Amino acid sequence: MKHFSKQNILDLEKVKRLNIMNSITGIKPGNLIGSIDDNNENTNLAIFSSVVHLGSHPALLGFILRPQINVRRDTYNNIMSNGYYTINHLPNDSTLNGHYTSAKFENDESEFKHCNFTEWYHSDFKAPFVKESPLKIGLKFQESIPIKINNTIMIVGSVEHVFVEEQSISAEGYIDLEKLNTTGIGGLNSYYNLQKIDTYPYVRRKDVPNFG
Ligand SMILES: Cc1cc2nc3c(=O)[nH]c(=O)nc-3n(C[C@H](O)[C@H](O)[C@H](O)COP(=O)(O)O)c2cc1C
Repeated sequence: MKHFSKQNILDLEKVKRLNIMNSITGIKPGNLIGSIDDNNENTNLAIFSSVVHLGSHPALLGFILRPQINVRRDTYNNIMSNGYYTINHLPNDSTLNGHYTSAKFENDESEFKHCNFTEWYHSDFKAPFVKESPLKIGLKFQESIPIKINNTIMIVGSVEHVFVEEQSISAEGYIDLEKLNTTGIGGLNSYYNLQKIDTYPYVRRKDVPNFG
């Protein structure tokens, strides 16, 4: 088995280090974050692999934003200026178009248009959802947590709306991601289909067999 010590990691060539370190957490969720500027003029869409569940009651999600220093980040600016955004699972038939959203577009160019996704709105919720996505979440900004060691930020939002394809949610509320046909992300540029292995009940100590 290949071993990387902390020193080996420090000594790696920059891109190789970035690739390895982005891959070691395994599969990450593929999501498109939709937002709009304060004048309701320019919409924005960008791919993020760092969305994480923070709690169910209240329902909260977080995601990590890279450093803002010297780089214009439209997702961040839009969320900070008007407080609303959407998280949309990336359909597995649109992975390349999803990847295109990571390019640096001008702030008056919408990735919806340039990467071939369709804006979809619900009632008076201001931020655009992705029409093609089978699981769409509307969020309200709650908190921004600076991670000082590397100048990243965790954005925390409350879940205000969830839209999910009916056939992929069970009576108990399990969402079958295979049926949803959405995407897992490895590293920074590999996209995976999701295949369910099995579903198990809540496990108690007595349920665990004795492996000797
Ligand atoms: C597969 C993949 C995953 C990404 N995940 C993140 C992420 O979790 N956080 C982040 O800040 N940027 C992430 N990015 C980079 C953003 O997509 C990119 O910076 C984008 O231009 C941001 O758009 P904005 O300036 O419109 O907000 C990712 C890029 C790719 C290709």
